[in-house]
Order: sequence, then structure tokens, then C-alpha cells
Amino acid sequence: MNPKPLLLCFEDELETAARIARATELDLATIARHRFPDGEIKLRLPAVLPERLVILRTLSNPNEKLIELLLLAQTARLQGARHLTLVAPYLAYMRQDMAFHPGEAISQRIIGRFLADLFDALVTVDPHLHRVATLQEAVPVANAVVLSGASLLSDLIATRRQQPLLLGPDEESAQWVALAAARHGFDTGVCRKVRHGDQAVEVTLPTVAVSGRQVVLLDDVVSTGHTVARAARLLLAAGAVSVDVAVTHALFVGDALPVIRQAGVGEVWSTDSIKHPSNAVSIVPGLAQALLAQIPAAT
Ligand code: R5P
Repeated sequence: MNPKPLLLCFEDELETAARIARATELDLATIARHRFPDGEIKLRLPAVLPERLVILRTLSNPNEKLIELLLLAQTARLQGARHLTLVAPYLAYMRQDMAFHPGEAISQRIIGRFLADLFDALVTVDPHLHRVATLQEAVPVANAVVLSGASLLSDLIATRRQQPLLLGPDEESAQWVALAAARHGFDTGVCRKVRHGDQAVEVTLPTVAVSGRQVVLLDDVVSTGHTVARAARLLLAAGAVSVDVAVTHALFVGDALPVIRQAGVGEVWSTDSIKHPSNAVSIVPGLAQALLAQIPAAT
């Protein structure tokens, strides 16, 4: 098998793909995409493909992208590709990991199986794994690689705040808080959260003293912003001198940023797993390193 894969991307992720291509010395090609007036999608891949492909697709706004991946992977296999790696810096549908009410779809399992049927390998960053321990339990691909943005954010926080208190806004964030805090010996705490609806969350602060502290809320995802906004209001009311937010995946849907600002949050820092004005650290070197480690493994 030709050991050198071709990196494929869509136009809207060309900039990130070009940086990955430079760091890995992979050739890069874009996939032409046409959206018909009725919403259907047509893709056009390069006419000649090598046996190994790497596809970059971050899965924010995932629904159309999942159809694209289906069309892309099956077309690539028909054209002779034998090994497909999906690089999905943000992996969607990981939060619905159980049926919280009878009859609910367990999206994590279903989308995980869908991706595993299309791809041989997956590289992602801070997937929302809560009730399962490994990425392969959620996405049963032959080769699953998990990177984390927590260390990058931790290094950034260490340069921006003096002896910060690193807080997770809910129990699920404890894993990323622990990772980030261990790197610089930050004090930590984890809040408790009860979600009543998309924008209705109840947060309880941990018993750790917050008065006079510079607090940084660290989480994997900010979506509507209501989780960190609620936590920030409580922290400031309890005497925190500042509250900043550090997050791996900057979804920031709708009015999330104003919601966070109105709650008194100062800085917002994110990784570039999803392109956003808050991007402050880059996962690209980590992705490149992970890909380089994969290349000899599959020859
Ligand atoms: C879920 O547990 C995640 O880690 C985030 O806390 C959650 O997705 C944030 O959602 P939102 O910003 O809509 O409150």
C-alpha cells in the first residue's frame, strides 16, 4: 500500500487543512461540493485517489456534514481507497450517551457506529465521553486517537492569570480540569449541574473558597453558553475577582457570547477545533503529530 495518504478537505476548512498538510508533508486536495436548490448535496472527489486518505471534517453543525461523509467515504472506496482516516477535531453527537427518557435515541452509539462503518481510523479532540471510558466504545473504529485541548489551554491560562482557580462547571468536566490543573498545579473544583432544558441549567458551586480568586471555568464545549454563564454569576456573587472561560470546542450558538459577557465573564479562550474569534491555541500541531504516527502503522 502506498504509505503516503492524500489529505482531503472541504473549502471551508482549507486553511486548517493547509496547515496540517504543511506539518505532515501530505498532499492536499479539496472536495468540490454543490448544494442543489432543494437541499441535496453533490460531491466531487479528485478523479484519481491513493489507497490511503485522510479526511478533515470538524463536526460542528453536523447533520449535513454526516451526509457528506457518507457520500465521500463510499465514493472514495469505489475509486479504490482502502484506508480512510477521519480527522474530526470536534466530534458531534457524543453528549446523548443514554436514553434519558423512554424511547430516546442513544445518538452517541448510533452516530458512532455510522462513522465506524465508514472509516478505519478516527482522530479527534476531547470527545464528550462521560458514561463510556474509551472513544472506541462510542465509535468502534479499528484505530481511535484522542487528543486533548486541556493542556494547551492550561499553558495559556498559566501565562494569563496568577494562581488561578480552575473550575469545571459540571461533573463531566472533571476529567479536563484534572488534566489541565496537573500541568501547572492549579487549585481546582467542580460544580454540580442539573439541566432542565436547552437554556435552563441549575449550577451548584463546589465548597472550595472562591472569594478573592481569579477563576477560570474550563469545559469541553460551550454551546448556548448558559452553563458557564450560570456558574460565572454564582462565582462573582460569591466574591471571585474575575471569571474567564477556557473551552476546547467553541460552538457558541446564537447569542452565547453576549449571554456569557452579560454574566460577567472576562476573557474567553478556545482551541481552533472549531473556527471562532475566541480561538487562542491551536490543535493543528497535535493533529499533525497524530497523523504522522499513523502513517507507518498502516503501510
Ligand atoms: C455538557 O455536559 C458539556 O460539557 C457542556 O457543559 C454543555 O454542552 C454546555 O452547554 P451550554 O453551553 O448550552 O450550556
